[in-house]
Order: sequence, then structure tokens, then C-alpha cells
Amino acid sequence: MSTSRAKPKYYLTTPLYYTNGMPHIGHTYSTIVADVIRRYKRMRGFDVFMTTGADEHGVNVERSAQKAGKSPQEFSTEIAAHWRRLWDDLGIPGDEFIRTTDEKHHRTVQWLFKRCRENGYIEKGRYTGQYCVHDNAYVVDAGPGDACPDCGRPTETVTEENYFFKLPEFQQKLLDFYAANPDFIQPESRRNEVLSFVNGGLKNLSITRTTIRWGIPVPGEAPHVFYVWFDALIGYLSAVGGPNFDQRGLWPADLHLVGKEIIRFHAVYWPAFLMAADLPLPEQIWAHGWLLFDSEKMSKSRGNVVRPRPIVSALGIEPLRYYLLREIVFGQDGSFSYDALVTRYNSDLANGLGNLASRTLTMIERYFGGEIPNPAPEQSKETDSPNTAEFANEALIKVMHLYDRLNFSMALEAIWEIVGMIDKFITVEKPWALAEKPEDRARLGTVLYTAAEGLRIVTALAHPVLPQATEKIWNQLGQTEPLSRVQLDTLSWGQLKPGTKTGKPEGIFPRVDKSETIARIEAMEQEQNKAPEVPAATAANTTAGPGAAAAPAVEVTPKIGIEDFAKVEMRVGQVKTAERVAGADKLLQLQVDIGDEVRQIVAGLALAYKPEQLVGRKVVVVTNLQPRKLRGVESNGMIVAASLPDGAPVLAGFLEEVPVGAKLK
Ligand code: MSP
Repeated sequence: MSTSRAKPKYYLTTPLYYTNGMPHIGHTYSTIVADVIRRYKRMRGFDVFMTTGADEHGVNVERSAQKAGKSPQEFSTEIAAHWRRLWDDLGIPGDEFIRTTDEKHHRTVQWLFKRCRENGYIEKGRYTGQYCVHDNAYVVDAGPGDACPDCGRPTETVTEENYFFKLPEFQQKLLDFYAANPDFIQPESRRNEVLSFVNGGLKNLSITRTTIRWGIPVPGEAPHVFYVWFDALIGYLSAVGGPNFDQRGLWPADLHLVGKEIIRFHAVYWPAFLMAADLPLPEQIWAHGWLLFDSEKMSKSRGNVVRPRPIVSALGIEPLRYYLLREIVFGQDGSFSYDALVTRYNSDLANGLGNLASRTLTMIERYFGGEIPNPAPEQSKETDSPNTAEFANEALIKVMHLYDRLNFSMALEAIWEIVGMIDKFITVEKPWALAEKPEDRARLGTVLYTAAEGLRIVTALAHPVLPQATEKIWNQLGQTEPLSRVQLDTLSWGQLKPGTKTGKPEGIFPRVDKSETIARIEAMEQEQNKAPEVPAATAANTTAGPGAAAAPAVEVTPKIGIEDFAKVEMRVGQVKTAERVAGADKLLQLQVDIGDEVRQIVAGLALAYKPEQLVGRKVVVVTNLQPRKLRGVESNGMIVAASLPDGAPVLAGFLEEVPVGAKLK
């Protein structure tokens, strides 16, 4: 059953962002773009629904939580709330904020798995990958003997039983689908990249893990949990009804907006999962480029992130929206620069649109008592000034076409051509001089009508990018219908009614001093960095398996207070027994007496110590770590050791006699 709608629906999504870090301007860019598309589509008559949200499972979040001394659920809930609040504060919230920890999402993932399995596209198999014992995580793209990029220790080759999705069965189906839907993957360069990936052959995809605990359980298959992409992607569907998607009538998505590094998951895995489950496929995947800072992708690991809040406090959200959409060619990488941001603000917003609005409205108030004057038809086609009506009508069509293709930079350029044209027209016509002579009154009316009508068209066209500023100008032009409800298709030159009362001209974008503004933003940024917004997050170069390569990267370990250190409980332990763990060349399984109990601990010591060397030895044990499983063996604590450059461990010990169970402080 499909919902009947007065208007056609348009369902778009942003990526569901990881909750092991805080948003930077790169994430903000994606959400702003989605919001611009949402507003534009509304002005083209669509009933739009936008989903954003949080991707919360997996080893990275689990580890970040552990570092922060919180449970994954508690930690992730806190971070998800930060993301959500930011989108609210910036005026770009989704209509739905889906969390992969939501119960409705769990149900949807389990349902989709069942459908794919019943259709014969899921099988059990063995997954082999490189594993970092120290970090308890798979390392993507590492080969046997490679070091863990996070801690530098050598990784181990391990094998575990997983469920696999039979991706190869979809190779031809996907290629046929891409051929029949040439616009499915945008831009062209990404489409080519995906085509060559699929043409190169597909491999079975491991979609569950037994080594991770923080995930959605595979029903009846404990300890299997779903593994990242066969979890997060399904969030787009959970957000709009999950198993009952047809009741909402929003599925399939019309647009998944993503960054280029996750195109493969969206353009290959996702349609394959949906095909396997007999569900409708999204209409389009659009992969945009990266924001670069100092010529590199902005990311925490490189320490080159720019945060949105300081910019917004100094300049407001709209200049940021304008800058990102005007300066960066959508689909390509673009450099972020404070200098360019403030330059654009002053030139295009303060001196451009803001100045045009204020001079036009001020003159209408001064010369016509705040009423839109009558244009004198016989004088409106001066040979010495461009034909503004024709120019604006043509621009309207051109701008809509550019917006349709998500070519925001050119759309804004075309809109600002109208701004420039009217500005020039005013300068040439000199209304202030016309106002001096009563015989030029009609011409003065024409000139100011033309300026106001041009301003009205510009305002409507720029609304998706500058929603608040344009709404203000629109109101100042005496327009009563909310601008967001105006339909661009019905907009044309000459609709502004003479006699309309205009409002008080108000400065929209005051000019700012560039160096002072940049200094202010940087000071706020520094202030913000001093007090981290979130509990310590952690490195993300090690991930729990293939596909997670796109995980956001490392947070530099911040300094901790003594109270944080006090959370770690360390005691003197004595090894009672030690034996090798079958199939793992580095692991030893130890029974360690810690005073009031004997703990089983699995430690990566086997390359440096023989089991018999350890029996009777006093060691330092971290005793309040959450238990975890290593190669299926429960480990309840950690032995403290120094790590040499080649990764070899050297046990911490004592020169004096110490009693077993003594606490370390
Ligand atoms: N959780 C996955 C997505 C799952 S979607 C079902 C993920 N999350 S993420 O937090 O790493 O967000 C990645 C997305 O954030 C990118 O695809 C892009 O949309 C945005 N960006 C992150 N850094 C960016 C830049 N430096 N520049 C532009 N966009 C960037 O991947």
C-alpha cells in the first residue's frame, strides 16, 4: 500500500556519521548540501524528506568508549546527541535522525538479513584477515606480517567463521542496472571508478563478526553480530519504515548524498543487498569531493580539521553555506580557507546582495515613501541598459537547470550575475540624480521598480542557499507568502505589484574586517580545542574488517586529569599457569593470581616469553577492564608491558619484593 501524496515525494539522505568523533566542516558540508537540495526541491514542488543520523556500532566506537571509561551505548548516545544538536543549531536537521542503535533499525537489519538469506544470497564461511592482538581489531588492507597502523605492533593472520553475502552473484545484475540507469552514479568520474571495480570481479563479502560485541546480533546466531556496512547502509531504509516501508511511501530514496570515499559501499554493496532482498533500488548516488585543508583531506588524524561552530559564531551559518557552495565545485575536492571565506563574505554578501538590497529599499523608502513604484512601460527598454526582464527570465531557467544538476557553484555565479547586472544598472541610471528632477520621476520609478524586481528574483533563486537572509529581504520587499513556499517554476519577471508596501531596510550582511574576523575564528577554535567537546576518542586506522577503511581517523590522545588515571585499577599479580593459545602464535593464556581471585588473561607475550618462563613471575595487571574474547578465549584483564620498536613486549616488574594483590597508584 502506498501513501497518496498531493505532491511527488523526494527522499534524500546524508551519510550516517560515525559516533567516535565530532563533526568537522567536512561533515557539515555534506549536511549543508543536503539541506540546500531539500529546500530547492521544495521550491520545485516536491514533498521532501531528509534523513541524517549516526552510525554507532563497531570496534572504533567500542574502543573510544572504553578509553572514555563509558559503555559503548552511553558513549555513543552522548556523541550522537552532539551531532544532532549541531545540525539543529545550524538549522540543518534531518526530518529523521536515525541511530543505528535504534530498535527499529535493529529490526530492519535482521529482517533484511532474513530476506537475503531466504533468497539464497547468504552463506557461512571462514574469514581470514590481519588482526592486532593488542588493539583487538582487524586491520584493513594489511598483509601477513604487516604492522598495525595504530600501535605499530605486528598483526597476526586469524580466521573466524562469518556469514558472507554472495556479492559475485550480483556482478552482471549490477552492470546491467548501471547500463540501464546511466545517471545512477554521479559524477561521471565516480561512475567510471565503480564500473571498473565491478568489472574487475567481486568477492564474497563478510557481513558478520564474532570478535566484536558492539553490534546488532544476528538472530539465533550468537556471538555473530552484523558487521558495519550490513548495518549502517540499512539505516536509510529503517528511517522510513523499515519492513513497512511501503506504508510511508518514501522508499526508494531519490538521492543518497555521500563523500567520494564511500561510493563503493553505496553504489555496489547497497544495491546488491537490496536486489538480494527484492527491494526497490535508490534512484541516484551522488559522491562529492573532499574539503582539503593545507592541501590534504581534512581529518582528525592529520590534525587539520576546521570546526563549524567558531565560524558560525563569527559570521553566521549563511556565509558558510554560501562560501562552501559557491567556492567548491560540487563533485570535486576543494580547499577550505578562512581567507577565501571572509573575502567571499565581504565581496558577494556584504557588498553584493546585502548592499543591493539596502540601497534599493532605502531609495524606495526615500523617494516613494516605502511603496514599490510603477514602472513606466514605454521607458523600460532603454537601449543603453541591458534588458533586465529578459536577462532575469533567462537566468531563472538557467539557474534551475544548474541546481537540478547540483552544480551549485555555477548556479550561484549565475544568480550573482543578476546582482551585478542590477548594481550596474543602478550605477548607470543614477536614481539619486533622477530624483533631483521632477521630469525624471517616471524614469526614477522604472529604475527602482527594475531594481526591486531583480532583487525579488535573486532572493527567490538564492533561497535554498541563504534561507534566512533571503526570507528577510523578501519580507522587506513586502512579500507576504513565505519564500520557502514559492514555486520557482511560477516565478517570472513583472510579478512584483506596484504599490506594495516595503519594510524598513535592514542591514543583512554587515561588512567585516578580514584579519580581525579570522583572528576571532582562530581564537575560538583554539579555545574549543583546549576543552575537547567529547570524551577522548581514539584511533581508527585499525578497523574490524574490510569495508571499514572509510572510518574517520584518529583523535590525538588528549591529556587526562588525575581522576581519569585513577579510573584504571592496576594490581600486582602472579602468574600461576601459562599455555599457548591454539592457532595464535603470539598469544598466551594465563591464570593470574591478583590477591583476592585468580583471573584468566590472554596476553600477546608468546614471541618474547616461553610459557614456563612466566609461571611464578610477578606482573602488573590492569584489573578493571571489560572482559573480552581473544580467539574465542575470554580475557579478564591486561598484563602491562613495554613495547619495543619491533613490537616485542617486555614485562613491567619490580626490583623490590611486593605482595600479590598490592595496588599501583
Ligand atoms: N559511517 C560511515 C557512513 C555510513 S553511511 C550508511 C562514514 N561516516 S563518517 O563519519 O566518516 O562520515 C563520512 C562522510 O562525511 C563522508 O562521506 C562525507 O560525506 C563527509 N566528510 C567527512 N570528511 C570530509 C571532508 N574532509 N570533506 C568533505 N566531506 C567529508 O563514513
